[in-house]
Amino acid sequence: MVAAGENRPGGTAGSAVPVDTPGGPRPFVLLSVAASVDGYIDDTADDRLLLSNEADFDRVDELRAWSDAILVGAETVRRDNPRLLVKDDERRRARVAAGKPEFPRKVTVTARGDLDPAARFWHDGTAGQPPLVYTTESGARRLAERLTAPAQERLIPPAEQRLTVPAEIVALGAELDFGALLDDLAARGISRLMVEGGGRIHTAFLAGGLADEIHLALGPTLVGDPEAPRFLYPAAFPGGSTHRMSLLGVAQLGDMAVLRYRPQEARCPNPTTTTG
Ligand SMILES: NC(=O)c1ccc[n+]([C@@H]2O[C@H](COP(=O)([O-])OP(=O)(O)OC[C@H]3O[C@@H](n4cnc5c(N)ncnc54)[C@H](OP(=O)(O)O)[C@@H]3O)[C@@H](O)[C@H]2O)c1
Repeated sequence: MVAAGENRPGGTAGSAVPVDTPGGPRPFVLLSVAASVDGYIDDTADDRLLLSNEADFDRVDELRAWSDAILVGAETVRRDNPRLLVKDDERRRARVAAGKPEFPRKVTVTARGDLDPAARFWHDGTAGQPPLVYTTESGARRLAERLTAPAQERLIPPAEQRLTVPAEIVALGAELDFGALLDDLAARGISRLMVEGGGRIHTAFLAGGLADEIHLALGPTLVGDPEAPRFLYPAAFPGGSTHRMSLLGVAQLGDMAVLRYRPQEARCPNPTTTTG
């Protein structure tokens, strides 16, 4: 729940979810990130750096409840071991009452296919909807190997082996095409995709012109470590450095600022340069 007196982003009072999600052939893609003031999304310590405060975690929970699927990169699965659940009971009940699964479907992306079958990603909130993994042809082979029975059982022919964790592996070819990934999600009835990072994944969606909205929550910290993961990495972003995104809203949640952008809309003209 949000503390009284705090502002929430969005066009409707008290709600963090997008209000204008034009239907299209592909899912509406929302990038959600918590970053330090200097643009990092973690540090290099073993434990995950918590950049959000309680109200911001609740905002993220609301976005999860809004979404049909939540996507994270394979490195986030390996490093953070997230569960990606909707925590609030009321929100889960509302989803079920609306005819949706209790939890959004989980999705990850890996080129190498090197994911631990013990990761929470596979095991929590996946009843009736196995997590989806988008990968390459070689990644699919590697992942099927990792997710099947232990070595001694691999003597049975591959076609007869069963995955030991619930998962649906989708090979998209020699390389991963994020547009094809969105087309496949659309074919599975996913119309709202929340992307929770990490930075490599956010970069791929933005560089591909595939993100509809960014929710950037700034935590009042400075990480200052060049080895730490960043929100975004160098890429040829559409429109280049002079393209100004449309700012939809700014909200304060305690000591955090939440900025909402539409990256593909450029409503404001470039500012004129003033001197003196
Ligand atoms: N503050 C936040 O909001 C937040 C949220 C999430 C994560 N994080 C942090 O972000 C860090 C991880 O971020 P990250 O940027 O290192 O990794 P990431 O984006 O989570 O995952 C990167 C991985 O995704 C796969 N991948 C990415 N682009 C691909 C492409 N074009 N084709 C095929 N596969 C591709 C690769 O997997 P393979 O290596 O398996 O091939 C790659 O190593 C962690 O420290 C985590 O704590 C922070």
